[in-house]
Amino acid sequence: MILADDTPGARNHQAKRSWRALRIVNVVGTRPNLVKIAPLMAEMRKFPEIDAVLVHTGQHYDENMSRVFFRDLGIPEPHHNLEIGSGSGTWQTARVMLVLESLLRELKPDLVVVVGDVNSTLAGALVSSRLRVPLAHVEAGLRSFDRTMPEEINRILTDAIADYLFTTEKSANDNLRREGIADAKVFFVGNVMVDTLLLHQDRARKLDMAARFKLPDKSYAVLTLHRPSNVDRPEVMEGFCEIMERVQEQLPLIFPVHPRTRARLTEHGLLPRLQGMKKLKLVEPLGYLEFLGLMAQAQLLLTDSGGIQEEATILGVPCVTLRENTERPVTVELGMNRIAGTRPSRVLQVVREVLGKKMKNGVLPEFWDGKAAARIVNVLLNQKTPQPEA
Ligand code: UD1
Repeated sequence: MILADDTPGARNHQAKRSWRALRIVNVVGTRPNLVKIAPLMAEMRKFPEIDAVLVHTGQHYDENMSRVFFRDLGIPEPHHNLEIGSGSGTWQTARVMLVLESLLRELKPDLVVVVGDVNSTLAGALVSSRLRVPLAHVEAGLRSFDRTMPEEINRILTDAIADYLFTTEKSANDNLRREGIADAKVFFVGNVMVDTLLLHQDRARKLDMAARFKLPDKSYAVLTLHRPSNVDRPEVMEGFCEIMERVQEQLPLIFPVHPRTRARLTEHGLLPRLQGMKKLKLVEPLGYLEFLGLMAQAQLLLTDSGGIQEEATILGVPCVTLRENTERPVTVELGMNRIAGTRPSRVLQVVREVLGKKMKNGVLPEFWDGKAAARIVNVLLNQKTPQPEA
């Protein structure tokens, strides 16, 4: 779709082109968003008929939460960085909306793309809807059915106003249908996070992260924790300390500590206890390749993240999920993921079961094949851009 260029901001951006391509503004804000946008930006940039603009809200901003991901994944420098930084979820969403609104008025995009379920995703969705710019949501339809999670609310609201909904697994299509979203807007395309993983896993494995951290290959566990519902509650964190104590007695354990988690551990006075555990290594958050390499050589993953459950399935490393639910049921159905909750006795029981038997590594989910971004861009180029509903 080639459109006439008629705005000062657009002319500026398109200075070298005599015609105006389909301008797609891609909004990202956090670490997992960057992993998802990398293959999409790469794919969009193959097509001269697409003018792919990258906007980073700056929800994540540190070297190791953001910048290293650009380098590792070869993402082009963002055209615009809104630099919103840290704050409550409400503050972050409101701040992104305010700044993004003026930017989108200037850029006049033909389409806005948001990925995942973070505060920046919802903010991007609300602004494009208000400006009546068509909206695409990548990773639509996932549901944990737990409305106490901010991510669940972000997912439901974003899907309710999106014009293109790109799903990663069949359960997402069922959820969207149940919520009354027209099938015509929903495209089952696979998983862009898997595109990224498959592209980079050889480089990541070559880093030999096990050796770098002096861990025995295939005989250690990796832990990540960052959900507010886990880390903001001292009683839950006490339970996790017990879990860490017991797991590291059996298997060396490495724990890249998310900034929110480090802050809470410090506040609750739990850091000295962790520092006293002989076979627990506390490290800073790692870059994409380093973390992927570390996961690939592990015997076991323990996490409350969404994305790591999917990465574990692809890598064939058993994952114990430290939540009461998952919005990614296909990872459980295929056998690589167990939902263990947060109670120490239950989690330790599941860990014993997982270590005690070979977990079934089933077939991979449909379309988790490295081609999701290509399918998405193909849809965007070949569909008539829908108008937001009145
Ligand atoms: C956010 C997402 C979550 C995603 C996670 C990945 C929402 C609701 N949550 O959670 O879905 O899985 O990112 O990490 O959007 N901080 C830094 N440096 C940074 C970024 C954050 O120190 O670069 C600190 C901030 O001070 C903040 C805390 O980390 O207090 C949490 O950051 P925030 O963006 O609020 O949410 P996350 O917990 O990272």
